[in-house]
Amino acid sequence: MAFPVQRLRRLRQSEALRRMVRETSLSRADLIYPIFVTEGHDRREEIGSMPGQYRLSVDLLVKEAAEIRDLGIPAIILFGIPDRKDERGSSGFDPKGIVQRAVRTLKKQVPELTVVTDVCIDEYTNHGHCGIVRDGKIVNDETLECLTAMARSHAEAGADMVAPSDMMDGRVAAIRAELDRAGFTELPIMVYAAKFASCFYAPFREAAGSSPQFGDRQSYQMDPANGREAMREIALDVEEGADIVMVKPALPYLDIIAMARSRILLPIAAYQVSGEYSMIKAAGRAGWIDESRAMLESLLAIKRAGADLILTYFAKDAARLLHTP
Ligand code: PBG
Repeated sequence: MAFPVQRLRRLRQSEALRRMVRETSLSRADLIYPIFVTEGHDRREEIGSMPGQYRLSVDLLVKEAAEIRDLGIPAIILFGIPDRKDERGSSGFDPKGIVQRAVRTLKKQVPELTVVTDVCIDEYTNHGHCGIVRDGKIVNDETLECLTAMARSHAEAGADMVAPSDMMDGRVAAIRAELDRAGFTELPIMVYAAKFASCFYAPFREAAGSSPQFGDRQSYQMDPANGREAMREIALDVEEGADIVMVKPALPYLDIIAMARSRILLPIAAYQVSGEYSMIKAAGRAGWIDESRAMLESLLAIKRAGADLILTYFAKDAARLLHTP
């Protein structure tokens, strides 16, 4: 029984009806706001390729965090911009490092806000890679020592969740074991499980000064062509003890989110990355699209694909427009 008996437009006639049959919703509780924290005092530098996003010193980060909490956003994820870099990214696991200090201060001053930390050495290495380099290659197992040290130092500073983004094999198991050994058995791991070698990270790398100084990240981040392999990455991370798995980027990889949703029971996060943000911003500024509508439509699409949580630079803008908690 098709037309004329079936008329799908019947339920689209009024906003009331449309609300009643709406399948997906976006709420402030879904959002995680990524922030860059930098050395110094009273520093607020706008990131050229990400209009409206800033590198903040810890004192200004605290003010920003209070605003984020008041907007009803439950969590932030912190990226550190250190003042010194070396081969092993050791400023990334220094107990007095920039992220460790930021976390300590935030948990003291804005305790209600959940603080997630990105665990990866690329922002702290002089070569810009996410692992230790030997003879021009990124070595896996040795890198795990840096990652576990970094995760542990974040936990000791008071982080509420750690988020490894390096794409080394075995990092979830290694970090889980180290956290458990140190007594942090209740600290969740949100792993960047299916992270693709994407051109959409370019504005972030400008923001964090973390572009690789030679080569690229294709020997550890995933080939954008591979969906089945993404399911293997996710399955292994689940087995190793992940609590939340992430797909990154988000909008160009909605099929990966949907595939993961149909296979696993864990919460799924998706990262609407810097390039996705900057494209919408740029087109909005040029008057080619309506920025707010493009933002909300893209976030809704990411939810509809199956994500429970979205890391997005639009978190504050979206929270201001959303009525749902
Ligand atoms: C690695 C990391 C990156 C992003 C998050 N964590 C950069 C990369 O892999 O090159 C990118 C996020 C974005 O583009 O918004 N520490």
